[in-house]
Parts: sequence; C-alpha cells; structure tokens
Amino acid sequence: MLKKITIDKEKCIHCGLCIKDCPTKCIEFSEDKIPQYIQGGEDICFACQHCFSICPVGALSFADKNPDVSESIGFGNSEDLKKLIKSRRSIRFFKDENIPKDKLDKIIEILSYSPTATNRDNLHFSIIATKEKMNEIRHITYDKVMSASSPNEFFKIVKEAYKSGNDLIFRGATSMIAVAVDKNNTSPGAEIIDSTIALSYIDLYAQSLGLGTTWCGLAFRAATQIPEVYELLNIPRNYTLSYTMLLGIPNIKYARTPQLDKFSVKLIK
Ligand SMILES: Cc1cc2nc3c(=O)[nH]c(=O)nc-3n(C[C@H](O)[C@H](O)[C@H](O)COP(=O)(O)O)c2cc1C
Repeated sequence: MLKKITIDKEKCIHCGLCIKDCPTKCIEFSEDKIPQYIQGGEDICFACQHCFSICPVGALSFADKNPDVSESIGFGNSEDLKKLIKSRRSIRFFKDENIPKDKLDKIIEILSYSPTATNRDNLHFSIIATKEKMNEIRHITYDKVMSASSPNEFFKIVKEAYKSGNDLIFRGATSMIAVAVDKNNTSPGAEIIDSTIALSYIDLYAQSLGLGTTWCGLAFRAATQIPEVYELLNIPRNYTLSYTMLLGIPNIKYARTPQLDKFSVKLIK
C-alpha cells in the first residue's frame, strides 16, 4: 500500500488538524510549518486517511487520492437508521432471481469502508453472484450431506427437508458472501472481529437496498468441511475463511418489527 502525503503549499493554512488527528502521530510540521511524515513515518502510518479527510481546505493528498473527488460527509437520518436496524431480519425465503448488478456493485463499493483494527487491507470477499453458481455449491453440499450420517437431530431434519424440496442450509439463496482474513496481516485478536464488522455493514446496507441476508453458520460449515465447496469460493492461499452470509432478493415481507427483550445494560456513573 502506497503511503505518501503531498501538501499543496498554496492551499495549506497550517492549522495542524492533520497532525492532531493522526492516530499514530506520524506527521509533524516542517520548519516552514508544512505537514510532513516524521522520520520513518511511512512505516508507522495506518493509511487511514484521517489527515486527508480532516484537512478543511483539501491541501493534503494521500497517496494517489485527490481530495477534490471525495464525497462530502453525511450521516443521514438517525431515525431511518434506527428503523433499519430494528427492521432487519434474517431472510430465509428468496426469489429465484439473480441480484441485479447495480445492487451488487453498490455492496462492493462499501466493502472497504468497515473499520479494521489497524486499518489493514486484510480482508478478502468471495461473492457467489449467480443462482447457477449457488446451485453448484448447493448440489455439491447436499451430495455429501445426503450420504453422510450423524446423530445430530437437526442434521436429520436437514436431510428430511431436502427430500421434500426444502434447502435448510442455504435457504434457497441465489448469492452468498464469504469473508476471509489474511492470516499474516492481521492484528492479534482481531482476526474474527475485522471480518465480522464487515459482514455487519453488508448485512444492514444490503437490507437497505431491499435485499435479504442471513448470517449462515451452516453454509460456513459446508465451506469448511467440504473441500470442493471451499475450492469454489476461490479464497486466496494465505487467507482463512471467517464466515458466510446468504444474500438474495427476499420472497417474504415482514409486517412489523419484533419486540426484543433488552440485553443486560448497566449505566456506570
Ligand atoms: C453467527 C450467526 C450464524 C447464523 N447461522 C444461521 C444459519 O446457519 N441458518 C439460519 O437460518 N440462520 C442463521 N443465523 C440467523 C439467526 O438464527 C438469527 O439472526 C436469529 O434467529 C435472530 O433473527 P433475526 O436475524 O431475524 O433478527 C445466524 C446468525 C448469526 C449471527
């Protein structure tokens, strides 16, 4: 990842905000009050672009990024966001249609916007984008499942359901997102967290686009226990699969939000 800050000296107002907001303190003023990396700063820099985002006059460019083409800051409407959070459900019935390309493109656009512990580009997303590919995964999985035995009661239910045309593993989804993490480029303890945050962002954003999602432990098990399924996901060699999420166009509509019991909360003052 290229780490370089370039200052437009004509524009810089020497306010020092870029220096103040830098999380790793790798920027300082030069003698003529122009921000620059401290010695060895490139190595410490997270490439988080806080310096780039905070500059009130767009005088600081990070790597090849031009501040003039960034979007303006916007947080939307908090009531709408709360409604989205409360309305989101796991969707287990999908239309037999591929997700339109424009919606997939929008999801791809936001993938890199979830935080990771030390802002590393350490995640890989494999997206099964068509129902045909998803059916391939489904067939490989059920070939194995139907010929396997297990004392697990739910396993028996899955097999019985499949005989009557119900897919309890992939819930008939036409797409799936698998997120994997670079084993050699992750902060200790954050391996699962980085990828879980990314899936949470996808979950909410996809539902705001009218798509359905379900976090799927069963698909994860299929991917990790059936080598042919793992192969199909095309996960780069040094990455480990973290989790899977089903995706598709919902074939079900909820009429109201649930009324969930509150988690334990203690306000400490
Ligand atoms: C980590 C995780 C794994 C899950 N695995 C599955 C799964 O394999 N199959 C499924 O139908 N739902 C799965 N779910 C969905 C949960 O059952 C669901 O989130 C929960 O029942 C609450 O329902 P809601 O998401 O509609 O609010 C999973 C959810 C999470 C967070």
